[in-house]
Amino acid sequence: MAISRKVKDALEDASWVRKMFEEGEELKQLYGEENVFDFSLGNPNLEPPSSLKKALKDLAEHPIIGMHRYMPNNGYSETRRVIAEYLKEESGLPFTEKHVIMTVGAAGGLNVALKTILDEGDEVIVPTPYFMEFKFYIDNCGGRIRLVETNEDFSLNIQEVEKGIGQKTKAVLINSPNNPTGVVYDQPSIEKLAELLKRKSRELGKTLYLITDEAYRRIVFDGTKLPISFQHYPHTIRVTSHSKDLSLPGERIGYIAVSPLCEDVDEFISAIVFANRTLGFVNAPALMQRLVAPLQRNSVNIRDYEEKRDLLYRSLTDFGYHVVKPQGAFYFFPKAPIEDDVAFVKELQSKRILTVPGRGFGKPGYFRISYAVEMRMIERSLPGFKEVAEKCGMNRQ
Ligand SMILES: Cc1ncc(COP(=O)(O)O)c(C=O)c1O
Repeated sequence: MAISRKVKDALEDASWVRKMFEEGEELKQLYGEENVFDFSLGNPNLEPPSSLKKALKDLAEHPIIGMHRYMPNNGYSETRRVIAEYLKEESGLPFTEKHVIMTVGAAGGLNVALKTILDEGDEVIVPTPYFMEFKFYIDNCGGRIRLVETNEDFSLNIQEVEKGIGQKTKAVLINSPNNPTGVVYDQPSIEKLAELLKRKSRELGKTLYLITDEAYRRIVFDGTKLPISFQHYPHTIRVTSHSKDLSLPGERIGYIAVSPLCEDVDEFISAIVFANRTLGFVNAPALMQRLVAPLQRNSVNIRDYEEKRDLLYRSLTDFGYHVVKPQGAFYFFPKAPIEDDVAFVKELQSKRILTVPGRGFGKPGYFRISYAVEMRMIERSLPGFKEVAEKCGMNRQ
């Protein structure tokens, strides 16, 4: 076969999320869709705000001349201005539209950010467990991923990050609220990380970047306040999207925000725009840029996810599962009660419950539940979770 060895290896190492999703499709054929409890994919079940649908209809009925044409590679100035205003208010920093680059989702934005900073062989530090696509994005840009452990509760372990930093390090890539754990990195840990990066940048005589994947930034519970990394570290690049907060993953709309305090910021932004263009994205989808501009302070109903989190957390802990209570996103990452997480996921499958083994996130011995699904599905799945817990000898707490 003529495909590259690299891609061939990557395909063999195929995504567990996809694998589970595909097995689920087979189960659905066998048992009917409503009898399979699919917690495999992080695909939001909520609909985007109705105001977005209305704006879409208005645009279709009253099109703007030129609305389908090429545009500047960083996106429409109007959209970037609104986002910059939001970021300025949030951080107190002098964001302007030039610091915002519209991207093809967070995935596109991550590839662009990494392409901008990485030379062949440069390392990017990523705390585990982690969103496995990071590995491929870093590799796309000639870099190497360097995984570092987190604490028992999946909070940042600054000592481990420090141990991971060396001559080849170019960036630390964090994701909070986190996929797959739902954990939010708190203010003290971000402050400590920023201090570490400042010290290490001095010691190594080069700039280390902090890339923050904040795709789930608006999905937080219990009034949790997310730290604003921009306020603590000047070389911060935030990558985010409206895939989750406005339930638009199919529309591929996101952005990169570069800290105004970043050194050589104008040159840095030019490099980002160049990477966005030459990676072949050219620009983010035109229609979506228009539609999300007025929705920068909106989101889907987060309370809906919170209620699902509450029900699942209560039930899983009651059945004896060991799980860190998530403060955001829409995932649980419980410990598998038997050593082999793949075998455990198969046990759940015998109850037609689809989850993803922890090894799919670089952390064997756990499994991920994505609960961006209908409440009714969660309720109907609970007896299955309970039976498997009993079968595996889990004690009630
Ligand atoms: C942590 C994380 N980053 C990035 C992405 C990609 O987001 P987008 O659909 O905006 O490209 C996802 C999608 O699930 C994710 O979980």
